[in-house]
Amino acid sequence: MNKPTDQFQRPLHDLRISVTDRCNFRCTYCMPKEVFGRDFEFLPHGAVLKFEEIVRLAAVFVGLGVEKLRITGGEPLVRRDIEKLIGMLAGVPGVKDLTLTTNGALLPRKAQPLKDAGLQRITVSLDSLRDDVFKAMNDVDFPVQGVLDGITAAEAAGLHPIKVNMVVKRGLNDADIVPMARYFRDRGHILRFIEFMDVGATNGWRMDDVVSGEAIAAMIDAEMPLEPIPSRYPGEVARRFRYRDGSGETGVITSVTQPFCGSCTRARLSADGSLYTCLFATTGTDLRGPLRSGASDDELRAVLVGLWGDRRDRYSELRSEATAPDRKVEMSYIGG
Ligand code: GTP
Ligand code: 5AD
Ligand code: SF4
Ligand code: SF4
Repeated sequence: MNKPTDQFQRPLHDLRISVTDRCNFRCTYCMPKEVFGRDFEFLPHGAVLKFEEIVRLAAVFVGLGVEKLRITGGEPLVRRDIEKLIGMLAGVPGVKDLTLTTNGALLPRKAQPLKDAGLQRITVSLDSLRDDVFKAMNDVDFPVQGVLDGITAAEAAGLHPIKVNMVVKRGLNDADIVPMARYFRDRGHILRFIEFMDVGATNGWRMDDVVSGEAIAAMIDAEMPLEPIPSRYPGEVARRFRYRDGSGETGVITSVTQPFCGSCTRARLSADGSLYTCLFATTGTDLRGPLRSGASDDELRAVLVGLWGDRRDRYSELRSEATAPDRKVEMSYIGG
């Protein structure tokens, strides 16, 4: 079968699979408590795709050219027996890169089982090394040391390379940029700084809160000289830099100030089986319905080829007041 390309000739290369819309954190930029409180209705159990359903869809995607699978949430490690899913996905022929993005809280007990099941590498989110700042951002009083313990467990399990994601919000954690860069450089992990994005409709995003990737790189460069290095693969979202003294690398993800839609090869599957062709979409396409009503692999493939072929998304390049849709899906639902 031919590999589909979209309306801008972008191939389908990565699938981000959200396995739950729940999370044990309430990061203010992602799941603010005022919205995701006691009364928030998460997906009911029966609506969430079973592991067999996820694997079947993933295999169809791989048949269309997908080589990279990233497991996301909410927080993927709160999904029971997540390592079983990893084991099943690791067994799909054609999967070249199998990874996961986590807040790290459950890694001390999950890192080894995940590695044993076939997870290749991991990305852990951490926004500050200062407890007061980190707790204010995760909003569940979770200490920095808990995430550092998770990173240590991932290291011990051999999940390499370890990447760390830091969302930067002006006035909140920008003072942590250089200390975080130094800390993770010294430990051999790849820290990436993410511009605070206007995903979803609840995080109160304002352009004034964004610190540009360029400014972030300049702050680090002033203390620890940097030089840009090429992407590791086409469509990589991070702009990479190496420390000139050879001590490692870091990166910035500039989806606000320097968008990368032109090379966006990512599809996103929500926990309840809808496919989104952009992080900033308002609607997805239900795949669970056809899956549960007996569609064949060929029928599923035809749906995906049609969807990808019609794709024209480039939200970040068009971003403006005028183009911003009213009800974008939430990051915790679509997995970032
Ligand atoms: P690597 O495979 O290690 O290169 O990871 P990744 O950068 O693809 O994945 P990760 O989950 O670590 O994402 C890092 C950040 O980039 C998150 O904040 C994502 O939401 C953001 N991001 C990833 N893909 C896209 C995208 O297609 N569009 C936008 N706007 N942001 C994205
Ligand atoms: N802007 C930028 N990054 C975000 N993330 C969650 N919400 C936002 C936002 N509004 C990050 C998480 C995680 C990654 C998948 O996305 O911290 O590292
Ligand atoms: Fe949870 Fe990650 Fe969202 Fe924080 S950013 S609330 S850890 S899903
Ligand atoms: Fe891809 Fe949409 Fe992000 Fe652009 S805004 S890079 S099209 S997910």
